Amino acid sequence: MNECKECESGVKEKSGVETTRRRFLMAMMAAAAFVISVILGIPFIGALVQSRSGEQKQKWVKVADLQSFPEGEPVRINFALREQDAYLEQTTVHSVWVVKRSASEVTAYSPICPHAGCYYNWNTQLRRFECPCHASVFRIDGPVIAGPAPRPLDTLPVKVENGALFVTWERFKTGVPEKITV
Ligand code: FES
Repeated sequence: MNECKECESGVKEKSGVETTRRRFLMAMMAAAAFVISVILGIPFIGALVQSRSGEQKQKWVKVADLQSFPEGEPVRINFALREQDAYLEQTTVHSVWVVKRSASEVTAYSPICPHAGCYYNWNTQLRRFECPCHASVFRIDGPVIAGPAPRPLDTLPVKVENGALFVTWERFKTGVPEKITV
């Protein structure tokens, strides 16, 4: 009889220990899942908050020393841009047409034709920009001379600091008369 009572209490004790252990393990698993979800969620929430608040900071990229550009002659120059898209960070190479008018006056154009997105070229003989796709032609200061382009060349924000030229890379909607950032 005594043995049986001990046996019963032993079983109860054992099942109590099992329950406590199970609860502990479940609590640990829940805590681990919480920590992992917070770690994974931080970049996503950050990107979401940033895009919702429209507070994407203007990103200046150093393109070259302004001194290296000839005055009055457009120069196409490539630069690398590091971009963060939620989880992914990637580096992409873009280019701009830079026209230096004086030691302090400079314009940077997007190299993308506003008609349908081709890359246009500078014609050194005729001193004008020409698009090979549908023959749009632009003056050195941007306006359309000929062809189907619906607006002048798209300028990009520029600044000069300690002799270095910085630009902010932007893309614009093609095929429309208004300059709309996309
Ligand atoms: S894309 Fe340049 S003229 Fe059409």
